[in-house]
Amino acid sequence: MELGTVVCREETPNTSNFYFVADKEVKVKVGLFIQVKVKQGLLIGRIEEITKTNRYFMQPETISNYETSINSNFPTDKWEFLLCKVYCLGILDKIIKRANYPVSPGEIVYMAEDENLKKLFKFDERGLHLGEIEAHHLKVNLNMNRVFQKHLAILALSGAGKSYATCVLMEELLNRGDDQGKAGILVIDPHGEYSGFVYDKKFSDKTNLIKGKDIRIGLPHLPSYYYKLFLPNLSFVQERDLIKVVAELRKTEDVFGIKEIIAGIEENENIKQATKEVLFANLSSLNSLRLFGYYDTPSIYSMIVPGQMTVVDLSEMTNNRKRQMIVAYFLRELFNKRIMRKVPPFVAFIEEAHNFAPERSGKENFSKGIIEKIAREGRKFNGLLCLISQRPVHLSTTSLSQCNTHMYLRITNPYDLKHIGESSEGLTTELLKSITSLEVGEAVLVGEASSLPLFVKVRNKEVMDMETSRSLEDDCIAYLEKSEKKKKDVSDLMEG
Ligand SMILES: Nc1ncnc2c1ncn2[C@@H]1O[C@H](COP(=O)(O)OP(=O)(O)OP(=O)(O)O)[C@@H](O)[C@H]1O
Ligand SMILES: [Mg+2]
Repeated sequence: MELGTVVCREETPNTSNFYFVADKEVKVKVGLFIQVKVKQGLLIGRIEEITKTNRYFMQPETISNYETSINSNFPTDKWEFLLCKVYCLGILDKIIKRANYPVSPGEIVYMAEDENLKKLFKFDERGLHLGEIEAHHLKVNLNMNRVFQKHLAILALSGAGKSYATCVLMEELLNRGDDQGKAGILVIDPHGEYSGFVYDKKFSDKTNLIKGKDIRIGLPHLPSYYYKLFLPNLSFVQERDLIKVVAELRKTEDVFGIKEIIAGIEENENIKQATKEVLFANLSSLNSLRLFGYYDTPSIYSMIVPGQMTVVDLSEMTNNRKRQMIVAYFLRELFNKRIMRKVPPFVAFIEEAHNFAPERSGKENFSKGIIEKIAREGRKFNGLLCLISQRPVHLSTTSLSQCNTHMYLRITNPYDLKHIGESSEGLTTELLKSITSLEVGEAVLVGEASSLPLFVKVRNKEVMDMETSRSLEDDCIAYLEKSEKKKKDVSDLMEG
């Protein structure tokens, strides 16, 4: 479809931008892709801004000079036209080239054909169906290898649709056939937003839910490394004595817990009393977390199964130390087993990633180290991360910079925008500006998954909603109903 004609305006056409005047009868909108013939092939661009102009209304004094309306004296409506600013994306020839030559003024601008957009964005029919390019109603199917060529980051402010888009991505991964390659999926879910997969019959046989309170880390096989990690305040001597006692217990006992370690320290005559006191205090504090047991629950091997998802629901757990210990332990063990090829390739989705891998943290953050390690080395072993965060500025820069694909939904905080502008290549000032005006459920993908910025309207999810955030009104009503019911149950019981 013909849209209009390229015009000369402000230093354009140049290699990045040009303007065209839209034909009166066509509907243009921001986000629409266009194509124009150039010497090397077909230039594809995206309408970034539309301005309405009319030369009759450019000088305020001409308007005040007319006693009657200017419209009744002159054919003003004939001089109103739409000026569209286009951002040049690339040139389609046999290969996709950078737009390194401007279009000619006077060239006709056409609406981009779907086939050309599919080629430009390298869509894959068998890929992950994330949504559509809204202005063209064109399905966005992203090649899985490209999305997870390395790690993925999903960033936006609260309520912009991160978890929703993540659900869509998970559905796509779970719906893949054997011949399409199925990864094992792990979800660290601090708000209990993903349990819908377990209760929805479309996905229930592919999802396994683990509640935080049921998780245990098995002590008898716990490598010494973790004592150092989880008890960061121990001195070298204290740590050495503790590890000696644990090593002794390993030789003599099949199973043991923290109580047995404490007893072992107590009986050991070679350990100074002062050291013992410190160890007792530290171990008691670990014990009070109720996280350590005789064996791992769940087992690492049951957590990662091809085409299956394990949701680790930490929503009822308020202790941050404990949450981080769980993430640190299971991710590290999983990664080590992946290096040895003992578990299948996996994608670990980490919600609230800025809490598990914060940019600034002391020794007290247990999970940051392993998340950064997987971010740096995971790709070689297909141990992949999807980091989800509403505060990119607080998220570890090491981890964020290793995410090859970024999905941005609406972000307005200037600090966050500055941060992502610095940590993501290919984000122009214009693009950053458009991130501030995205609507809920609209995303921009940049990076490996799409070498050109791709605006996607995320599709509706299939999985049922888990109602994790009710409105204040609904929540108050539900609370009242619950307490009324409780009262009634008690009075029924009393009456027999
Ligand atoms: N693609 C979409 N289509 C339809 N509705 C959506 C879409 N994305 C988000 N929403 C709506 O917006 C609400 C908030 O989305 P979501 O929970 O995903 O936000 P979030 O970015 O994860 O927020 P938070 O940071 O608080 O976790 C959803 O409950 C849903 O109703
Ligand atoms: Mg969320």
